[in-house]
Amino acid sequence: MKERIQELIKHIEEVKLKTSEEAEQFRLKFLSKKGEISTLVENFREIAADQKRETGQILNQLKQLAQQKWQEAQQLSDSTKKQSNKSAVDYTLPSEPQFSGARHPLSIVENEIIQILSKLGFVYAEGPEIEDDWHNFSALNFPPNHPARDMQDTFFIDEEIALRTHTSSVQVRLMETQKPPIRAIMPGRVYRNEAISARANCFFHQVEGIYIDKGVSFTDLKQTLYYFVQQLFGEDIQVRFRPSFFPFTEPSAEMDISCQLCKGKGCNVCKQTGWLEILGCGMIDPNVLKASGIDPEEYSGFAFGMGIERIAMLKYDVKDLRTYFTNDTRFLSQFRNY
Ligand code: DAH
Repeated sequence: MKERIQELIKHIEEVKLKTSEEAEQFRLKFLSKKGEISTLVENFREIAADQKRETGQILNQLKQLAQQKWQEAQQLSDSTKKQSNKSAVDYTLPSEPQFSGARHPLSIVENEIIQILSKLGFVYAEGPEIEDDWHNFSALNFPPNHPARDMQDTFFIDEEIALRTHTSSVQVRLMETQKPPIRAIMPGRVYRNEAISARANCFFHQVEGIYIDKGVSFTDLKQTLYYFVQQLFGEDIQVRFRPSFFPFTEPSAEMDISCQLCKGKGCNVCKQTGWLEILGCGMIDPNVLKASGIDPEEYSGFAFGMGIERIAMLKYDVKDLRTYFTNDTRFLSQFRNY
């Protein structure tokens, strides 16, 4: 028995286990219940007592050696498994999508409006969002007790200072600082004290436009705005002007465009009328020119103002105004290609 054990020790020392299959075969052959070492242990009981000590020692040695060999082989195959897992990455798979940002629909529409009107010579201008009573109301010919000055509409900061309720305030700033001819568009954020709903918000965006020169007439106003909506919505659009009232224009009008969804036939969006209101406009009231130091005997001009949210709603069929401001990427990502 001793010889057999020594033979095995020698054999196991020399054995090289390269694969997991070889390691498994090794385990079955030597270390399993029916393996050679178990058989030797069983036979060990029957050997003569004086042999036991010495044989026991080498048998233990054999057992440890075999176990060590098998463990080493296993560690090795574990790490090769990990390595082969690494190289099992399929580099031909499509990569994780990386989403780029999208322009906000209000910016898209604002940029488009600026671009169209700049072709007609309108230049870009800005004014402050915190305004005084003069620029927001008085210089625009609002009588002292006009309802638009009321606390319900306007966010007052103190008696004379408020968040501007419209971009018309920027008209005044331009007229005060520039000499005609003035041709400008003034986009920006405006604020009104309104309950937030699908159709109203406490802040929104407008674009204001003015053209002041010698001999500017209502015909210029109509043609400018007609060109503008044709560029914005398509050549087949129809427009109509309805008489209206604004303190700062005389005469005043509101412009409607033919509903693009039903092509004028009448639908839910245009409330069965075939028309959609998109802006207010008019000839600048002589009082407004005078208040800003422009002689109404020498110059005349037109003005218009429109809500960007409303135009974007019509262009992109947005049903609820609040979706512009909740930063939901499912909404915003739709504008990636614009
Ligand atoms: N400021 C008006 C508003 O907030 C819009 C407006 C109407 C502007 C007529 C104009 C205009 O310049 O001529 O509703």
